[in-house]
This record gives sequence, structure tokens and C-alpha cells, in this order.
Amino acid sequence: MSQTTDLRAQVAIIGAGPAGLLLSQLLHVAGVDSVVLEQRDQAYVEARIRAGILEQTTVDLLRRAGVDARMNAQGLPHDGFSLAVDGETFRIDLRDLTGGSSVMVYGQTEVTKDLIAACKARGTPLIFEAADVTLHDLEGASPYVTFTKDGEARRLDCDFIAGCDGYHGVSRASIPEDRRRTFDRAYPFGWLGILADVPPCEAELIYARHENGFALASMRSPTRSRYYIQCDMGLRLEDWPDDRIWDELAVRLGPAAAHGITRGPSIEKSVAPLRSFVCEPMRFGRLFLAGDACHIVPPTGAKGLNLAASDVRFLADALILFYGRSDEAGLEAYSSRALARVWKAERFSWWFTGLTHRFPETDSFTRRIQRAELDYIRGSRAAQTALAENYVGLPIQ
Ligand code: FAD
Ligand code: DHB
Repeated sequence: MSQTTDLRAQVAIIGAGPAGLLLSQLLHVAGVDSVVLEQRDQAYVEARIRAGILEQTTVDLLRRAGVDARMNAQGLPHDGFSLAVDGETFRIDLRDLTGGSSVMVYGQTEVTKDLIAACKARGTPLIFEAADVTLHDLEGASPYVTFTKDGEARRLDCDFIAGCDGYHGVSRASIPEDRRRTFDRAYPFGWLGILADVPPCEAELIYARHENGFALASMRSPTRSRYYIQCDMGLRLEDWPDDRIWDELAVRLGPAAAHGITRGPSIEKSVAPLRSFVCEPMRFGRLFLAGDACHIVPPTGAKGLNLAASDVRFLADALILFYGRSDEAGLEAYSSRALARVWKAERFSWWFTGLTHRFPETDSFTRRIQRAELDYIRGSRAAQTALAENYVGLPIQ
């Protein structure tokens, strides 16, 4: 295979998930050019069912990037959600508790489709099915990326590389082990998710704590519902036909929600593991990590996608400062600035998971303490405010 120096960009972006695509868009708006390399094909990337809740800060960022038309038309603003504790429900009024903030229900699949369409419309090279992506000379002034496309060896020269290739990507692994530190927690359960073309059981989301385990009622639109139940990681999907899931949701979400559930055939069903993970620092030479490439949160509280967005905002601002004024201060500060927000979201997601899930090793005392904390939240505006301000997203600082 011959190797041709055929591509050049200011920023090489690895991964066409929300982090990579949004970074490319924000850079484009500021006149900085990029090339995006993605190992999967477009249909796969667009069909991957994942997160569904956008923080106010993520909504604002998509607006700044000019990729908000469909979100404005089809997204569902939510001013609150409910907590169900052993079948009894109370509401967290996000707007009231945070002085006006809310969240937006708009699926990650839709965000991804909008960003891919914008990327193609502006003519940024977005190369799907890029195989064997390898990063080179990260500590030098002229890093580059090699990959193969349709069996042909290719090379992409750049000033900087943004590693936006998710938890299993190549970017984090390209940093020598003695130059990074990782923090990790695996949870002894997963989430069994089901997507169905039925109306949601309630107008807002319900997070449920129940003796049988956690459950979540969410949605993608007024006619498409997304539900989750806590499950064992060893679960076999064939043991969980749709009716068994609907039955279990009705028990865990409680009688009021159960009454509102419309059953229907699942159009997607999958198990996701729960993990907390952080890699520090988020920079190695001219490589900058963003999103799941350097941190993972358990999904409780819907922080994963939103953290990817805030990383990318910090990184875009730093790169724009560098190209606009030859000022490296933003790049120097990127890792510590992003990590400060990452760790707060790690803490919140870990806490919200502990508050609502059944841990196999927990004794009856700890179960009572969990219920007492939920009871305290129910009765305390101060506790509700702490939950609400984390849920809508902490300020970008
Ligand atoms: P990703 O979306 O993972 O994108 C990374 C991209 O890089 C992918 O397209 C991948 O194909 C590509 N890539 C990987 N390796 C390479 C390589 N070597 N070369 C080139 N490209 C590469 N968050 C929530 O808030 N709520 C949820 O309900 C939720 N559910 C989830 C379910 C699952 C199964 C998973 C995995 C995650 C879920 N998340 C959820 C988390 C959320 O989806 C992520 O935080 C978000 O996708 C992060 O975006 P990203 O762009 O950083 O990474
Ligand atoms: C969804 C996922 C979450 O993790 C969450 O906290 C809320 C909603 C969802 O997929 O709709």
C-alpha cells in the first residue's frame, strides 16, 4: 500500500460522535478548519440509540453552532421531573428551583443527524469507515494521523488532534501509560432499555427507586417512549420479552404511572453497563481528549452527552483563541478547566445512582438510609435545589 500525504487541516478530529461533530461545527463557525475521521459507517452512527436529555447549556451551544432548527421545532422543553419512591411520586420543579432553567428532550440520534447534515452542507471532510487510525508525533510541532480508507493508506497532517473517539477509541490509548492517571468504578448492574412507538406514560420523566431496583420513564417525542429498568449484567435478552419489561415497569414506577403506560412492541432493546471513569489530564502534547474518550458517567441524570458538549465548548474556545490571537492560554488551561466540571458531574451521577439503585451488597440499614434521603429531598427545598441545579447543568466557568 502506498502512503499519500493527501489531507491537511488545522485540527484533526477523531470520532464523529456528538463531541467530534460539534467541535468541527464550532470551529467552522469561527473560521478554523478540521477533518473528521470516523471508523463506522454513517448509517451506524446515525442509528445508535443513546442519550435523550439536553441541558440548557448544551441547547445554548447548539444554538451558537447554528444547528438548532430541528431541535427548536421538535425538541420538548421540560420544566421538571418526578421521583417515585416505592410507588409514591413527587415532583422536582426545575424551573422554579433554579430560577428559570430547564432541560430539552431531544435524542442524541437527532443531534447527530443534524450535525452530520451541517458538516456535509459546509463541505468539511467527514470520512466514514476510516480504519487503522493511528496518531503520530503528538509531542512534536507537526502531529499527523494515518488511516486506511477503502484499502488505501492515507495521511492527515494537522496542528492539533482532538480525540473525540469515545471510551473504546484509539486517542486515550495513544497517551503513554505513565503520562496519564485513571479513576474507575464499575457498578454491579446495568440498564435494560426499551424504545417503543407509544405515547409516554406521563408528560415528564420519572426516576423511580423501588425494592426491585431502579426504573426510568423517558421519551423521545409525544409518540415515542424510552424506558429503562435496572438489571443484572448477566441478563439474557431472550428471558425478557416485552411483556415482562412492561410488567416490571408498572411495578417499579408505581400505580399512577402504571395507569398511564401504553404497551407496544419494542423497536429497540439493549443492556448498557454502568461505569464511572476519568482519565487525567485531558491533554498530551498536541492531543486533546474530549467526551467519552476521557470520562464516563453512569447514565442516571443524563450527563454523558452534556459533558461531551461542555468539553468541546472549552476546547473550541481555546483553539479559536490560539488561531485568532496566537494565545496559548486557553490550550494550557483546557484540561484543568474541563476536569473541574467533569468531576462535579461524576459526583452527581454517582450520587444519583446511589440514591435510586438497589446495590446487591446493601444491608437493610443502608436501604432505610436511602429512603430517608429521598424523604428528606421530598421535604426540603434546599435539597431539591441542589438536585435541580446539578440536573439542569452546572454553569460553564
Ligand atoms: P461517542 O458518542 O462514543 O462517539 C465516539 C465516536 O468515535 C463514535 O462514532 C465511534 O464510532 C468513533 N470511534 C471510536 N473509535 C474510533 C477510532 N479508532 N477511529 C475513528 N473513530 C472512532 N448518556 C446519557 O446521558 N444518557 C443515556 O441514556 C446514555 N445511554 C448510553 C448508552 C450507551 C450504550 C452508551 C455507550 C452511552 C450512553 N450514554 C448516555 C452516554 C452518551 O451517549 C455519551 O456520553 C456520548 O455519546 C458521548 O459522546 P462522544 O462523542 O464523546 O462519544
Ligand atoms: C434518558 C437517559 C438518561 O440517562 C436519563 O437520565 C434521562 C433520560 C433517555 O435516554 O431518555
